[in-house]
Parts: sequence; structure tokens; C-alpha cells
Amino acid sequence: MPSSTIAVIGAGNIGGTLARKWVAAGHRVILGVRDPAGPRASALVSELGRRCTAAPVREAASAGEVVVFAIPGSAMPSAMAGLQGHLRGRIVIDATNQLGDAGPAHSFDVITRTCPTAFVYRAFNAFGWEILADPIVEDTVVDLFFAGPDGAGRATVAGLIEDVGLRPVWVGGPERADLVDALAALWFALVLDKSRGHRLAFKLLGA
Ligand SMILES: NC(=O)c1ccc[n+]([C@@H]2O[C@H](COP(=O)([O-])OP(=O)(O)OC[C@H]3O[C@@H](n4cnc5c(N)ncnc54)[C@H](OP(=O)(O)O)[C@@H]3O)[C@@H](O)[C@H]2O)c1
Repeated sequence: MPSSTIAVIGAGNIGGTLARKWVAAGHRVILGVRDPAGPRASALVSELGRRCTAAPVREAASAGEVVVFAIPGSAMPSAMAGLQGHLRGRIVIDATNQLGDAGPAHSFDVITRTCPTAFVYRAFNAFGWEILADPIVEDTVVDLFFAGPDGAGRATVAGLIEDVGLRPVWVGGPERADLVDALAALWFALVLDKSRGHRLAFKLLGA
């Protein structure tokens, strides 16, 4: 997929892994972090070289053609409060999980309330970062199921999923985000409750 500027908000397991993959694929990554000079962001920037920089969350989000949230789900309302008017028309990927809550695991509500013109996708949340780091399991490319609006944004998100090394499978529009989250719930149930390894993933057969 053509090189783009991607703002990755959060530089932890998920944000750091996606940043590594996308820089390796030729994209420019701006890490949006609370402390751009902090040890986590600095280590990533020096590891990834000139195509990776770190900036405060608002600055990074404003600069990204695509903005990916990889922070705790519980932090989304406060993070979004500072982004009013900064995500106009952007492709936004919500990789966050709101854990242990009766409500949805995704944060589509707060994202679309803050920026109604953003194109919001659900992706990268349904299995562990270990699969993103190495998406081949038992000699098979793992499928990544994602949801969000059809059109140019969908093609861009699919391309970014491929750049991580996964096969994108679009399950439908934003109303299907819960379907992606059901897969996350299945992953959690199998990995955490049934003590299967973290390298568990999903594959669609016959299509
Ligand atoms: N770990 C997984 O395998 C996995 C898989 C799927 C989805 N997820 C979801 O992905 C998200 C990130 O998980 P993770 O494992 O990458 O977490 P993590 O390693 O703990 O990293 C979290 C990142 O979020 C930042 N952060 C925390 N609170 C913030 C706030 N209020 N505003 C801005 N940034 C904030 C942290 O910054 P500081 O360094 O400043 O603390 C850190 O960079 C979570 O929602 C998680 O549920 C995780």
C-alpha cells in the first residue's frame, strides 16, 4: 500500500508492534504519547530511525492521515476530549478494548461524538500483540477481521492490515464492530480461561 503518515496513539505492546511493522513497510509513523521524551517512546524512535517520531497526542493525531488508537479503553474519553476538531475526515482505527465493562469493548461512541466526520474502523483488537508481531501460525497467514465504512477508507485499512502481514477480512460497516469484538471475547475465553497459548488466532476457511 502507498506510503502514508500514520499516527499511532500509544507506544505500548500494540502501538509499538504496529509502529515496527508499518515503518518496515515504508510508512511514516508518529507516535502520539503523553511524554514524547519518555523511555518507551524514545526507545522506539531510536530503534525505528527517521521514519518514526514521537509527539504529544494532539499533535500526532493532527498530522496523521490515519489515526490508530492503542491506549487503554478506559483512557479513551479523556484522550478524545483533547482531540475535538482534530480528526476531521480522518481514517481512525480503534484497537482499544474496554475490559470488564457491561458496555461495548470498542470506543466508537466517544470517537464519533468527538469527530462525526471521521471514518471509524474496528481492527487489531481481537488477539494478542504476539500475533501482530508474527502473523504466521502453523504455516498459515492469520486472518484479521475488521469492521467500518465501505469505500476508500476500507481499502486503506485493508492495506495496512496486509502491511502487518495479516489477511484482512471485512465483516461489514461500523454496526458490525460488535462482531469483531465477539471474536476478541472468544480469544480471551480460549486464551485466558482455557489457558491456551497467546499464539492462538482465527482463520476463515472456504472463502
Ligand atoms: N496487549 C495486547 O495483546 C492487546 C491485544 C488487543 C488489544 N489490546 C488493547 O490495545 C490497547 C493497548 O494495549 P497495550 O497492551 O499496548 O497496552 P500497554 O502496553 O500498557 O500500552 C498502553 C499505551 O497507552 C498509553 N496510555 C495510557 N493511558 C493513556 C492516556 N490516558 N492517554 C494517552 N496515552 C495513554 C501508555 O502510555 P505511557 O507509556 O505514558 O503509560 C502506553 O503507551 C488496550 O486498549 C488493550 O486492551 C491489547
